[in-house]
Amino acid sequence: MLSLLIVTLSTCAASAAIDKRLDVPAGYVAAPYYPAPHGGWTSDWSESYRKASLIVSNLTLAEKTNITAGSGIFMGRCVGNTGSALRADIPQLCLQDGPLGVRNSDHNTAFPPGITVGATFDKDLMHARGVAIGEEFRGKGVNVHLGPSVGPLGRKPRGGRNWEGFGADPVLQGFGGSLTIEGVQSVGVIATIKHFIGNEQEQYRMYSLVQPGISSNIDDRTLHELYLWPFAEGVRSGVGAVMVAYNAVNGSACSQNSYLINNLLKDELGFQGFVMSDWLAQISGVPSTLAGLDMSMPGDINTIPLLGNSYWMYEYSRAILNGSVPVDRLDDSVTRILAAWFQMGQDQSYPEPNFSTNTQDAEGPLYPGALVSPTGVVNEFVVVNTSEHAEVARNISRDAITLLKNNNGSLPLTRNATLKVFGTDAEKNPDGINSCSDQGCDKGTLGMGWGSGSARYPYMDSPIDGFKSRGANYTFFNTDSFPSNSNPTTGDTAIVFINADSGENYITVENNPGDRTSANLNAWHNGDQLVKDVAAKYTNVIVIIHTVGPILLEAWHDLPSVSAILIAHLPGQEAGDALMQVLYGDVSPSGHLPYTIPKSESDYPASASLVGFELGQPQDTFSEGLYIDYRHFNKEAITPRYAFGHGLSYTTFTYTNATITSVTPLTAIPPTRPAKGATPSYSTAIPPASEAYWPANFNRIWRYLYSWLEKADADAAAAAANTSTYPYPAGYSNVQKAGPAAGGVQGGNPALFDIAYNISVVVTNTGRRSGKAVAQLYVQYPTGIDVDTPIIQLRDFAKTAELAGGESQTLEVRVTRKDVSVWDVGRQNWVVPSVEGDYGVWVGAASDALALRCGTASETCEEGVASPV
Ligand SMILES: *[C@@H]1O[C@H](CO)[C@@H](O)[C@H](O)[C@H]1NC(C)=O
Ligand SMILES: *[C@@H]1O[C@H](CO)[C@@H](O)[C@H](O)[C@H]1NC(C)=O
Ligand SMILES: *[C@@H]1O[C@H](CO)[C@@H](O)[C@H](O)[C@H]1NC(C)=O
Ligand SMILES: *[C@@H]1O[C@H](CO)[C@@H](O)[C@H](O)[C@H]1NC(C)=O
Ligand SMILES: *[C@@H]1O[C@H](CO)[C@@H](O)[C@H](O)[C@H]1NC(C)=O
Ligand SMILES: *[C@@H]1O[C@H](CO)[C@@H](O)[C@H](O)[C@H]1NC(C)=O
Ligand SMILES: *[C@@H]1O[C@H](CO)[C@@H](O)[C@H](O)[C@H]1NC(C)=O
Ligand SMILES: *[C@@H]1O[C@H](CO)[C@@H](O)[C@H](O)[C@H]1NC(C)=O
Ligand SMILES: *[C@@H]1O[C@H](CO)[C@@H](O)[C@H](O)[C@H]1NC(C)=O
Ligand SMILES: *[C@@H]1O[C@H](CO)[C@@H](O)[C@H](O)[C@H]1NC(C)=O
Ligand SMILES: *[C@@H]1O[C@H](CO)[C@@H](O)[C@H](O)[C@H]1NC(C)=O
Repeated sequence: MLSLLIVTLSTCAASAAIDKRLDVPAGYVAAPYYPAPHGGWTSDWSESYRKASLIVSNLTLAEKTNITAGSGIFMGRCVGNTGSALRADIPQLCLQDGPLGVRNSDHNTAFPPGITVGATFDKDLMHARGVAIGEEFRGKGVNVHLGPSVGPLGRKPRGGRNWEGFGADPVLQGFGGSLTIEGVQSVGVIATIKHFIGNEQEQYRMYSLVQPGISSNIDDRTLHELYLWPFAEGVRSGVGAVMVAYNAVNGSACSQNSYLINNLLKDELGFQGFVMSDWLAQISGVPSTLAGLDMSMPGDINTIPLLGNSYWMYEYSRAILNGSVPVDRLDDSVTRILAAWFQMGQDQSYPEPNFSTNTQDAEGPLYPGALVSPTGVVNEFVVVNTSEHAEVARNISRDAITLLKNNNGSLPLTRNATLKVFGTDAEKNPDGINSCSDQGCDKGTLGMGWGSGSARYPYMDSPIDGFKSRGANYTFFNTDSFPSNSNPTTGDTAIVFINADSGENYITVENNPGDRTSANLNAWHNGDQLVKDVAAKYTNVIVIIHTVGPILLEAWHDLPSVSAILIAHLPGQEAGDALMQVLYGDVSPSGHLPYTIPKSESDYPASASLVGFELGQPQDTFSEGLYIDYRHFNKEAITPRYAFGHGLSYTTFTYTNATITSVTPLTAIPPTRPAKGATPSYSTAIPPASEAYWPANFNRIWRYLYSWLEKADADAAAAAANTSTYPYPAGYSNVQKAGPAAGGVQGGNPALFDIAYNISVVVTNTGRRSGKAVAQLYVQYPTGIDVDTPIIQLRDFAKTAELAGGESQTLEVRVTRKDVSVWDVGRQNWVVPSVEGDYGVWVGAASDALALRCGTASETCEEGVASPV
């Protein structure tokens, strides 16, 4: 064990870490790509770069390195706190979790998480939630919101953090992520798209003293067409920050993978903001710098983060003085960070943090991570949870509710129905709604998964609260075992609540270390047995499921008394009234599954199973390629229990009178990209060592991370600059590149986003009840092309307003050039495989309910066509 420990330590710490790869299957390469591209070359960021570079040109070395890293774990009010440069009016920046609301705070809204937002298929709600989240983070004084999450994408149904993102499809993730970013940033908060990239399982994700983090081995086409897609959309929306993932890709840690950061993110996608590490994901100093990392979070080393050591801060100052890191690399990082700050207008009286992630109390240590810390006021209990925000949350919870099955019109309930309600999930955690730190337990109504992506509930409007405030005639049995005293009576409606949870790896809940290793895809707490027992005694049983993702229903799905099944996803704080509105038919359900529900876990590709313990670096090879979730089920002709996009209503809709109009004519290869614009010019001269000297009589806080060096150390580093050279990684160069053909502006070559076809469709409510319908648009590539593509792929969607019976609405959806292209690995470009070919543009209510086909060759649309899958 000890020798393994030493070997691992040296592979992590040595400069060789950047090209040392262990056990990676043949063919997966982590090619070098240097140098890190300077930011500032797109016109939409040039003014912010102008302002930022003026400041940077005037900062000392210690001020610059101070801005690129956190001051240490638990060394401030937020989960991440950068160093400041107060002489230039640059404050410490507060970085705070998480994607569904302000973590570890009070008077905040616990919004429904991403998976629930995805299930609404509602772009307006996606954006509205982003605005509301932005307002809450701003109100608490947070500069950088650590969300949205679009990775994991949901490749592994058991993956622990899939619920933080929007669903198992890159386009759904893309819209969910980019609309969130646009909302959050519209109020001046920097959003962070994460986790870049391939972070599809929780276990073994981190590099430690004994083991390197898991390697996601992903081929180039799959990376572009699936996992990178939502990041491209986020960058296109102008996201200010990207967080790199813990894991490796092709054997090279994401935090120092030059191909990922320098090439794909900064050059090809044209990302202009800054790249931060996930917490303690940085595993080296100089190599991560050269590979394009701009900010180290929370600043400490990854191995033993409690001793006040950093790969950057003072070591970064040293690396500049001794000539290892070119000065323009540091200047570019600082300029990127300050440009994002200017881009969001944070130089204009932005509030300082007024809460503490470390305590619920008003006062406490200012630096809880220090052994001895001054104390003071750390929480002003600022109220940011407005009733408008609660309404956004409630509408999302409601419009996400997905009706899977509804026999005999058993739903909606009549006002006077006599209800027998079963399952602990129906009522609040009896120990208190926030009794488990980071929601690390499955007790009571499941509103969110656990981990850093959780928030404290300001309240929990439980389903039982909902029945109560409706004045429902209900009896509640707060148990997960069927009670003997429920007295089944003819005319009773039984409602059973079950759930399935998952979360982040640092907490294990009921033997599930983040990923659902023991629960598998089954309901927790013997939920299947409870449903079966209830179904044996009652003739009208409605099952309501709060779940993080796919869940098996087979144990009871076909029982004759199970008349209705609703997936209520994860409702956040708004579980009760939102559900009541649907159960009692104030509104029709309008959610759709953001993933497939299988009949058996073995229906998934074997390669999408969780990877278990392996000596050395665990290897996770994405050999299923593009075939995840519905792409796989369709290809293998496996009928799922419920297909991706499925969701019933209390009314019925038709999709008719569609038109397709070609807009921008296609060419096989997109038009040539625009050249990069000018970037700031940075000096290459190494600054004087005195810029890094400790100031006289400075009162140091023990374990706090500073950017200064002892005079002797700084002088020695400066003296070394001319005498020794750093062993740069293979392929290293410091000459800025023009950028790849697939790049051009934020998101890539702008021509990729040209609209190739506009499609309009008339959606008509043909029933009597009112309701909202979703039009999902899937593209089917032409037959006869020489590249294998999934049968259908989601490319756009739109949702109607509430339509009364007989009412119609025309929805507009579109297909871009990128939507009809494939990533050509040889050409390293997006290529339209058949310009004249007849693409099928399918529109309908679900991936398996597509009866309307528009052809790109004929530019006509046909109704009543057999669904392609
Ligand atoms: C991973 O390896 C594949 C196969 O060689 C390659 O095409 C791809 O670009 C590599 N990805 C990264 C991020 O290095
Ligand atoms: C640089 O700093 C000096 C003194 O701190 C100040 O007078 C000057 O205005 C600054 N220049 C810029 C461009 O910020
Ligand atoms: C770095 O930031 C810390 C925290 O704000 C501050 O105390 C220190 O003075 C800063 N160092 C420099 C060089 O400005
Ligand atoms: C805001 O949160 C507090 C608890 O933190 C709660 O008491 C209050 O009801 C919430 N307000 C709204 C409008 O939701
Ligand atoms: C310069 O300092 C960095 C950071 O401590 C170190 O990794 C590197 O090896 C040093 N380079 C030389 C040439 O001494
Ligand atoms: C907390 O936020 C409020 C509202 O944004 C702001 O007015 C106040 O100054 C902040 N408190 C502190 C201590 O920064
Ligand atoms: C929420 O939904 C109601 C309809 O039930 C609508 O009147 C209201 O405007 C919606 N609010 C938001 C913020 O979406
Ligand atoms: C309810 O629906 C099922 C399946 O649609 C049918 O078999 C059953 O007879 C119906 N029950 C009643 C009471 O109508
Ligand atoms: C509920 O009321 C409806 C009329 O609104 C009636 O037909 C039905 O029998 C009642 N059901 C129960 C369980 O009382
Ligand atoms: C609830 O339903 C039961 C059974 O139908 C009925 O006997 C009782 O009167 C109802 N209670 C109320 C308050 O309506
Ligand atoms: C749809 O087209 C038909 C003719 O094909 C026309 O009669 C009808 O009015 C159209 N409906 C709508 C809602 O535009």
